Amino acid sequence: MKWIAFLPVAVAAVSGVAAFTVHASGYAEKKAAPVFGVTIPLGYRDWRLISVAHEAGNLNDLRAIVGNDSAIAAYREGQFPFPDGTIIARLAWSYVPSEENNKVFGRPQSFVAGPATEWALQFMVKDSKRYASTGGWGYAQFNKDGIPADEAVHKTCFPCHEAVRTRDFVFTRYAP
Ligand code: HEC
Repeated sequence: MKWIAFLPVAVAAVSGVAAFTVHASGYAEKKAAPVFGVTIPLGYRDWRLISVAHEAGNLNDLRAIVGNDSAIAAYREGQFPFPDGTIIARLAWSYVPSEENNKVFGRPQSFVAGPATEWALQFMVKDSKRYASTGGWGYAQFNKDGIPADEAVHKTCFPCHEAVRTRDFVFTRYAP
């Protein structure tokens, strides 16, 4: 009955996978954001990378812009406007110095992602019929606990993204 000896290892491995799966899926879907009724899309944390950005000033964060399959395909094939079903996510974290990394570099140069910010998650969801009056995009912002921002915040999204109307309201270019 040698396999019994391996049982705890197998159980640990399986529960390890389960724990990782929960973590990797990102924030759980909670409440729909006001104005556009967008909820946090399942699996967004596994989406592919479009680009990265850093905002200084009041925001002072590190961000990753990721997209679902439809977003990635459209970018790579130059298919604009983005088709219905496209979702682009912007994830933001504070950044903190890494003593661990600085030690191996021998000087203070390393910053890494810290806790997610209050504006941790933003999404643009393409549905040309439902969101016809805002360029075909629904907008949503959630904090690090998955709580949506208020209506006033959601009314600022489209007017600012209008600046890039000619690029289907999307600022981020695909980083090669
Ligand atoms: C003051 C102008 C402004 C406002 C207001 C604004 N955005 Fe943006 N947004 C930007 C700019 C500039 C970028 C690209 C640079 C960056 O990511 O920091 C961007 C990037 C994004 C991206 C990544 C795709 C893209 O267009 O590059 C998403 C998703 C997004 N914003 C959603 C939102 C949502 C949701 C809101 C409202 C809650 C919002 N934005 C409000 C200016 C704005």
